[in-house]
Amino acid sequence: MATLDSREVAVVAGLGGWLPPRVVDNSELSRRLDTTDEWIRSRTGIGRRHVVDPGMSTVDMAVEAGRRALSSAGSTGADAVVLATSTPDQVCPASAPQVASRLGLGGAAAFDVNAVCSGFVYALATAAGLISAGASREVLLVGADAFSTLVDPEDRGTVPIFGDGAGAVVLRAGHPGEAGALGPFDLHSDGELADLLVVPAGGSRKRMSDEPGDYYLSMRGPAVFRHATARMAESSRAVLERAGWTVGDVDRFVGHQANVRILQTVAKQLGLPVDSLVLNIEHTGNTSAASIPLALADAATDGTLHAGDRVLISAFGAGLTWGSTVLRWPAVTPG
Ligand code: UT7
Repeated sequence: MATLDSREVAVVAGLGGWLPPRVVDNSELSRRLDTTDEWIRSRTGIGRRHVVDPGMSTVDMAVEAGRRALSSAGSTGADAVVLATSTPDQVCPASAPQVASRLGLGGAAAFDVNAVCSGFVYALATAAGLISAGASREVLLVGADAFSTLVDPEDRGTVPIFGDGAGAVVLRAGHPGEAGALGPFDLHSDGELADLLVVPAGGSRKRMSDEPGDYYLSMRGPAVFRHATARMAESSRAVLERAGWTVGDVDRFVGHQANVRILQTVAKQLGLPVDSLVLNIEHTGNTSAASIPLALADAATDGTLHAGDRVLISAFGAGLTWGSTVLRWPAVTPG
């Protein structure tokens, strides 16, 4: 049983990402949908995305990313597994216990967090809370989603946007002054706008539907775009103020990879230079809860992110939900 130590905070100790092998590029999509590579690239910044083959699931991806993060951290055993996802393998039960068991962490606390594309930031705050409360010493946090299983294959408004993948971090108990220490956080929601991005059927309100379209993701893109830019900018300002940082202190802005134009607009509203943006959306698409840890892992691998960099993280997603946090980047090598 861990001892309660109010001075302890969550510190990033390892990370890793995994993308399914099947790649769908824009030219493949333009052969089966009324779209073009030029439209998708210019409106979203996306060139290709990875998708699961039939039979592969969110848990399968989460296990791969989780294994890499545990190896990166040199972990000898996490005592909690938090899975940020809105595409669990089953509606019931949660998928995190299956991830834990398959990683040899059976017996660890394990549960899912569903805040859709903001899920990773919400789960960071949740995991940090487990550590600060003394309930955990080391948490494996995985963001994983398979939105290719939710989009209507005939819908040019959503198919090009989303990709599948998983990204993970290991958080350990540490001290507020260390590189990698997380926080503060800023988290919000607005359920009155749930209909902007929704899968109408399959849950308790409409378990079954005669309309096959009710099982697919419905998205009001332009409205989501407007809310995403305003809320991410607002939340970023709030968390910077809480951290005692100015915009000028930020070396890297790692935003949810929903659309390159959303991230450029947020950077402009904040007064951040465009070259502070960490971007990997060109080859991932929008991977929902996986997007931020995948972007962090890519940036740490290609040298965009250096130990000591001051990092601002911000996300926005269905719900609506949004949130932000900050950290000084630690010396970690992705697994
Ligand atoms: O992760 C959080 C959740 N999601 C988001 O953050 C997504 C936020 N929204 C967006 O990123 C953008 O709204 C989209 C990328 C989804 C759409 O871009 P847009 O610039 O807002 O386009 P639009 O929906 O206003 O559509 C403009 C035109 C329309 O044609 P008309 O009415 O002007 O003739 C659409 O029918 O583009 C058309 N269109 C397409 N054309 C070619 C929509 N999708 C496509 C497509 N290919 N794939």
